[in-house]
Amino acid sequence: MADIRIFSAKPYDRAGFDAANRVHDLVFLDARLDASTVDLATGADAVCVFVNDDVSTPVLEELHRRGVRCVALRCAGYNNVDLGAAERLGLAVVHVPAYSPNAVAEHTLALILALNRRIHRAYNRVRDGNFSLDGLVGFDLAGKTAGVVGTGRIGVIVARLLWHLRCRVVAVDLVADPHLLELGVEYVDFEQLLAESDLITLNCPLTNETHHLIDAGAIGRMRRSPMLVNTGRGALIDTQAAIDGLKSGAIGSLALDVYEEEADLFFEDRSDEILDDDVFARLLTFPNVLITAHQAFLTREALSAIATTTLDNVSSVFSDGPVSNRVRA
Ligand code: NAI
Repeated sequence: MADIRIFSAKPYDRAGFDAANRVHDLVFLDARLDASTVDLATGADAVCVFVNDDVSTPVLEELHRRGVRCVALRCAGYNNVDLGAAERLGLAVVHVPAYSPNAVAEHTLALILALNRRIHRAYNRVRDGNFSLDGLVGFDLAGKTAGVVGTGRIGVIVARLLWHLRCRVVAVDLVADPHLLELGVEYVDFEQLLAESDLITLNCPLTNETHHLIDAGAIGRMRRSPMLVNTGRGALIDTQAAIDGLKSGAIGSLALDVYEEEADLFFEDRSDEILDDDVFARLLTFPNVLITAHQAFLTREALSAIATTTLDNVSSVFSDGPVSNRVRA
């Protein structure tokens, strides 16, 4: 049995973890983990963190000093953890590689369909008694070229869904998926994907190589004013460059579930606060931008799988056997 401090815990996390837990001692904390809250981990065996908790070197050093031996991510991505420092300090880092790739892929499709047909605007109009259709013109997805960047667990499902909508699907990845090849998906280089896609969806991880993968240069090489969709990680896109692209028309429309500065915004009710982020505020002014606040993972099935795998991962760290789902530098 391990004492696990669960940071950034929301009601849906508590429900999932309580239902899945059999042996561990769970302490749910509202606070986001960072240098100012790390004291809440004192005496714990493990901390459980999410996408916007700060698990940088100074925080890891403080965790280590307080006797914590495991950082359990309840998500797939681990770009917020300094893995080298964790290894040096002897802290095991574990994650949940695949809790429900369907959840994220289906949300990606939901964003594509809603943005294309301007469902977000139509919903408000009809409720307001405005039945005008001006400004709601979309395009047929059938016959268009959809570019999928990253065909791992999530991207492969996104590519299939788009193929079933009768898109021509082109993809970029370091390794081609044989089932997608069989289906007729074409693996191309990034430049061809930028030039030929009417729709580009980002489903790769955030790494040093993919940071600002979509920058002013890449946007300038887009030939078809594509819809750009990001359900990967915020910093895959240079947001200011995307704003410039929306203004010039180089980007036709933009759907985001992630934002590079989301850590200071997402997962909290800030409706009564003055928005301090001018870049985000500008994004909200575009009629052709649709943003959800990092909710692509949020299905019952995913939450249940996240809790079960995270608790099993922690059990494995404190057992004699091999560690499950360990992330190494
Ligand atoms: P995965 O590891 O199964 O697949 C990622 C794929 O991207 C791999 O095939 C890899 O070869 C490829 N890739 C890496 N670098 C690339 C590059 N430079 N260009 C093209 N492809 C590249 O990961 P999975 O499960 O498909 O997740 C993808 C990302 O989605 C995660 O890293 C995470 O950041 C994000 N995610 C977002 C969620 C949300 O709620 N919005 C939830 C879960 C994951």
